[in-house]
Amino acid sequence: MAETLIEVFPQLGQIADDDLRNKVEKCWLESLKRGGWKIGDLETIPFTMLSDLKSISLASHTRNVTNCSIAVAEVMNKTGIEAFDIDFDLLIAGGILHDVGKAMEYGFKDNDWFVTESGRLLRHPISGATLAAEMGLSEKVQHMIAVHSHEGDKSPRLTEAWIVHHCDFINFDPIKR
Ligand SMILES: [Fe+2]
Repeated sequence: MAETLIEVFPQLGQIADDDLRNKVEKCWLESLKRGGWKIGDLETIPFTMLSDLKSISLASHTRNVTNCSIAVAEVMNKTGIEAFDIDFDLLIAGGILHDVGKAMEYGFKDNDWFVTESGRLLRHPISGATLAAEMGLSEKVQHMIAVHSHEGDKSPRLTEAWIVHHCDFINFDPIKR
């Protein structure tokens, strides 16, 4: 069972800025603590409560979304279109953290997963962005978390947030029933 966050999210190592990387890690560790989980639990906590997708872990989903986001950004960067202006540190931090609130949104009791009272009141984009603010992460990182889901559909998104948003949904829409 993983004991360090970088074992679960190796993409942490691709964040160049030490302070950002440390705060991203701190944010995940705090969310896990508040949810009553250990790092290794990330490989079993589901990424969605849809019953036939509960075997796909939050860790696996988060790695996929982050890897897809990096791949898309690399292709976009090669176009030479400067307006995209992709900040890879922000993109990777956003990919790793987009679902950080789910550790506080989901619980496990009587052999089944459930949505916590806190998670019903404040879904993960909101609880995650709030936690990121508490952990000293920038407003841009808070934005990445807050607008990644449909909650953000009426909000302007940074390029990095558009990428994570679409990479999140291509890792969900094709498999949901
Ligand atoms: Fe997600």
